[in-house]
Amino acid sequence: MLVLSVVSLRFAKNNKDNRAAVHDLGLASASLSVEATSRGLSVHQMIGILPDNARAVYQIPEHYETWTAMAIGYKADPALMPDDLKTRDLAPRQRKPLKDFVFANQWGKASPLVTKT
Ligand SMILES: Cc1cc2nc3c(=O)[nH]c(=O)nc-3n(C[C@H](O)[C@H](O)[C@H](O)COP(=O)(O)O)c2cc1C
Repeated sequence: MLVLSVVSLRFAKNNKDNRAAVHDLGLASASLSVEATSRGLSVHQMIGILPDNARAVYQIPEHYETWTAMAIGYKADPALMPDDLKTRDLAPRQRKPLKDFVFANQWGKASPLVTKT
């Protein structure tokens, strides 16, 4: 399944700007990913999409923005994948160390919560 994630940039109740829209989309996407994974599905989130095309094809109204997309499905046999995608998918995942983005007191200063061992 290919899902387009669309945010409303205005609150329905008062039509004011909704600065939390993208934050909420992230939360919803994370919740969906956890639930899908617990059901044996895989989720691949993508921002490399063409929002203007999505608006035209699906007639998405003004004040709504297509922000991201997700492919949701069952993992295929890696042998069926093109070599570049196979290499990427089978590579060990690398995550930034927490000290690089969990700060305390000043931007860029690692929090003792993540530097103590
Ligand atoms: C918000 C967001 C946007 C992303 N956009 C793309 C994208 O446009 N194309 C892509 O191939 N991967 C994109 N990714 C990365 C993949 O969804 C995935 O997280 C990455 O391949 C790492 O795989 P893993 O989650 O299995 O470790 C994006 C991830 C996030 C969270």
